[in-house]
Amino acid sequence: MDPCFEINSTDAAGRIGTLTVPRNGQEVTTPALLPVINPGIKTIPPSEMESEFGAEILITNSYIIHSNEELREEALEHGLHDWLDFTGAIMTDSGSFQLSEYGSISVTTEEILQFQHDIGTDIATPIDIPTPPDVDRSRAESELQTTLDRLEIAESFDTGEMLVTGPVQGSTYPDLRTKAGKRAKRFDLDVYPIGAVVPLLEEYRFADIIDLVVASKKGLQPDAPVHLFGAGHPMMFALTAAAGCDLFDSAAYALYARDGRYLTVRGTKHLEDLRWLPCSCPVCTEYSAKELQETTEKRQEELLARHNLYVSFEEIDRVKQAIHQGNLLELVEKRARAHPAILDGYRRLLDHAGWLERSDPATKETFFYLSSDSAQRPEIYRHQERLDRISITGTDVLLTEGEEHERYDQCLQIKPPFGPVPKTLAQMYPFTAEVPDQLDQQGYDQTAQAVRELAEQHSDVSFTVAHDNWPESALGILPDSIDTYNLTGSVGSDR
Ligand code: GUN
Ligand code: ZN
Repeated sequence: MDPCFEINSTDAAGRIGTLTVPRNGQEVTTPALLPVINPGIKTIPPSEMESEFGAEILITNSYIIHSNEELREEALEHGLHDWLDFTGAIMTDSGSFQLSEYGSISVTTEEILQFQHDIGTDIATPIDIPTPPDVDRSRAESELQTTLDRLEIAESFDTGEMLVTGPVQGSTYPDLRTKAGKRAKRFDLDVYPIGAVVPLLEEYRFADIIDLVVASKKGLQPDAPVHLFGAGHPMMFALTAAAGCDLFDSAAYALYARDGRYLTVRGTKHLEDLRWLPCSCPVCTEYSAKELQETTEKRQEELLARHNLYVSFEEIDRVKQAIHQGNLLELVEKRARAHPAILDGYRRLLDHAGWLERSDPATKETFFYLSSDSAQRPEIYRHQERLDRISITGTDVLLTEGEEHERYDQCLQIKPPFGPVPKTLAQMYPFTAEVPDQLDQQGYDQTAQAVRELAEQHSDVSFTVAHDNWPESALGILPDSIDTYNLTGSVGSDR
């Protein structure tokens, strides 16, 4: 696989990785945010991106540079790094976005790759076709074929030390995205951006985005670095990182600022609606909401852009720390509680629990059960998939949330929301999960589902369940053959 990317730790499908660009061995820790630099309008100078915001990589558009004679000559003369005054890694886009906006562009893939090479970019992009969402299938298929043909050209191009991306297209057809991923994998490319998600991001269609990310990743190598093209709002970093996106690029910080909008991890605010600034970045510490509202338009734009970048980089660091500690899904769950569209995305991600389980580590520090959505987490899915590993030796078996009882041949613990657990494992991860005393119905239902599954696997065994006040819904899931009694309610059998 790609020697340029190394994965250091994982959580759900999220990972901390190191992307190394060959030019000078520069390393980029992922998940990473690439601020978009518009070569014509530098709201915040690239050198400050590095010194003030800690950016290790940025992205700019080679097509915009190529199309403007003055910019082109300067970039060719000085090279991109000196010209922009940025020593970190630089990725360039190709004009595909302009192609999708204006219908045509005036360069070929070969020309723009050669140009990216000549200006000394670290990561170049061929001209893929960003097929919009919801188009008919035949269009999605034929445009995907064009993109794949261009990736073939890119592969055969002598790129020297330059890395090259293989964008994954396919509109809103998950099977096409998987196919695109599989085909892209066969070309010897380096970074895989998932393309044409901007219209979905603009409409907050996070559930669809998750489906497309998961479908694309199913086609790609598990250890391929994945970029989510055009995704720059900090509210969705945790969610999409948990689905396995490693790189994000933000034009949002500058575009939103131009419009008087203030980014937060809980969503976007209009500066005019803010009486207080819920942030302690250098901008929000120095200025009050009123001062920001009353300053000149140009100054306001710059200050908002700075705030927007600070919160974006802060969230990327928070995501990395969460992966390191193994609580990324808890962070996603928190973000989901701030916006229903993120909640939709989180629920859709958990619909892929079987896929998440494959990369989720077997042990972590802890598991916090934070809402009924936690009942669908991959850790619980994993336990239920492995119930057949529990050894049942008796014929009269007690499954209990409380004390064991010698009247039975064998006793197992019940650990909501997981289900039956051998006593020897009950004090180990993930059964040490922090679960609220007032568990929700979904948590109990999952527990009962696991008991039912175990009973079905051992139809010749007589099971008794001693539960702690389970709701009727959970008791109703158990087969009639199971005898139940409530440990805290009235003494005696439930039925
Ligand atoms: N920027 C945002 N989306 C895309 C895309 O699909 N392809 C390219 N090349 N750039 C993008
Ligand atoms: Zn701020």
